[in-house]
Amino acid sequence: MWSKIVKNRVSIRFWSSLVPDEPEGPCVLTDVPGPCSKKLKKDLGKMQYAGAVKVFGNYQKSIGNYLVDADDNVLLDMYAQISTLALGYNHPELLKVFQDEKNLKTMINRPALGVFPGEDQPKRVHSVVSQIAPCLPKINLMMCGACANEQTFKNVFIAYQRKKRGKKDFTDEEKHTAVINQPPGAPNLCILSFAGAFHGRTTGALATTHTKFIHKIDFPSLDWPVAHFPLYKYPLGEHERENAVEDKKSLAQVEDLIATYNKKDTPVAGVIVEPIQSEGGNNEASPKYFQELQKIVKKNNAYLVFDEVQTGGGGTGKFWCHEYFDLATPPDVVTFSKKFCLGGYFHSDELTPDKPFRVFNTWMGDPGKVIMLETIIRVMREQDLLDNVQEAGARLKCGLFELEEEFSEIMNSVRGPGTFLAFNIVKPELRDTVLQKLLQKGVLCGGCGDLGIRFRPALIFQKHHAEIVLDKLREVLNELNC
Ligand SMILES: Cc1ncc(COP(=O)(O)O)c(C=O)c1O
Repeated sequence: MWSKIVKNRVSIRFWSSLVPDEPEGPCVLTDVPGPCSKKLKKDLGKMQYAGAVKVFGNYQKSIGNYLVDADDNVLLDMYAQISTLALGYNHPELLKVFQDEKNLKTMINRPALGVFPGEDQPKRVHSVVSQIAPCLPKINLMMCGACANEQTFKNVFIAYQRKKRGKKDFTDEEKHTAVINQPPGAPNLCILSFAGAFHGRTTGALATTHTKFIHKIDFPSLDWPVAHFPLYKYPLGEHERENAVEDKKSLAQVEDLIATYNKKDTPVAGVIVEPIQSEGGNNEASPKYFQELQKIVKKNNAYLVFDEVQTGGGGTGKFWCHEYFDLATPPDVVTFSKKFCLGGYFHSDELTPDKPFRVFNTWMGDPGKVIMLETIIRVMREQDLLDNVQEAGARLKCGLFELEEEFSEIMNSVRGPGTFLAFNIVKPELRDTVLQKLLQKGVLCGGCGDLGIRFRPALIFQKHHAEIVLDKLREVLNELNC
C-alpha cells in the first residue's frame, strides 16, 4: 500500500492518511461527554427522548477517522456511527457529490422510486449491481437494515407460497382472509433465526432478533423458531474439537426445529443468519458450518438469507463476508445497509415478486444515496480500500494478540477478519470501564454481547491509526493492572 500510487500521487510520508488534513491523533480537552454535549442533551431531552445519546458531534469539523465532538474533543472513531461510515467524515470525494447540480436535483426531488423513478435510475442501479452484486441478479432498495430484512421475509414467503400454489391464482378465500390476518390468506409460515442474532427492530425483524431483552420487552412477537448459534472458544487453533462440537450442536438444532415447525403446520420458509453475529458479540462460525447450513436449508425447500447489514461493504476485508465461506451456490438473499448508505437486498430470480405492490413502500430507497454509494464504490476501487482494510486489520489484530498475551487476566478471545475485530474483557462491568477509559483517552469503540469490545472503523482506517489504538488500549490495561 505504502509504495502504491494513491489517487495519482505517491504517498510521501509512510503514514500518510488516505484522507487529507486528518489530525495526527486524538485530543481530549474535557471529560467525554463534556459540558457542551451535556447541555445539548438536556435541551434535546426536553423535546425528544435522548437517553442513548453519548456525545454530540461537530460534523463540520469532523474529518477522516476523527469525530470532533461539541466540546472540540477529537476522537479516533473506531465505531464509525455504528459501523456505517465507509469513507469516514467529510471525505473530499463525497463532498463533491452534491456540488454537481444534476446530482443535487436528483436528491431534492426525491421520487417515489417504485412508481415514478427518474429516467437515469436503470443506469444507476445497473452501475451498483454490476459492481457489487454477490452473484445474485436482482436488487431491491429500501431505507434501513430492518426494512431490508422485513421486506426480505415477504419475498421469501411469496416465493414459498408460489411453489405450493403453482400457476393457480389466489382463491377468494385467500383474498378475504388475508386482510383480516387469518389463514389461508395469511398463512402460518415462519423464519428461523439464531440465539444472539440481531436483525432489526420492526415487528418481523424483531421476532428474529435475540440480543437484549430491552430491545424486545413489552412487544408482542411471533412464535418463530430460534436455534443455537455456535459459540467458539479462542484461540481457534487450540479449540478445534470443542468448536466443531458447537457447529454440530447448532446444525442439529436447525434440523430439529425445522422438523418440529413442519409438524406444527408452520413450515420454515426461510433461515436468516449473520455471517458474523455483530451486536450479539462478534460471534463467528466456520465456513464448513455455513456450507452445512446451506445444505440443510436447501434440503428443506427453504431460503437462506445472509444479513450482511453490518458485515457487508468491506470491513471484513472482502466486500461480502460470506465470500469467506466458499458456498456451493450463492445464498438466496443478501441484505445490506450501513456502509451502503441505504438499505436493500440482492436476491435470486426465484424470489422476484410476480405482482406490483406486494413488496413496496413510498420511497423504495433514495436516489441521492445511490449516487453516494456509486462514489463510495469508486473510491474503494481507486484507493484499494479492501487491501487497506486487510493490512490495517492485520496490524491491529497482531497488536491485540500481543496485548491479550500480556494482559491475559483482563482480555481474551481476539477475533474477526479485516478490521471487523473484537476481543473480550473478563467481566461485563470491567468491559464497560475499558470502553469508558478508552473514550477518555480519545478512542471511541463499541461494545457487543456481554463481554465484547468491537472495532468498526471506516475503510480508510490505516496502520498508523492501529498503532494509536493499541497504545491507548495498553495504557488502559496498565491502569487496570495497577
Ligand atoms: C446485522 C444487522 N442487521 C440489521 C440491523 C438493523 O439495521 P437498522 O438499524 O438500519 O434498521 C443491524 C443494525 O445494527 C444489524 O447490525
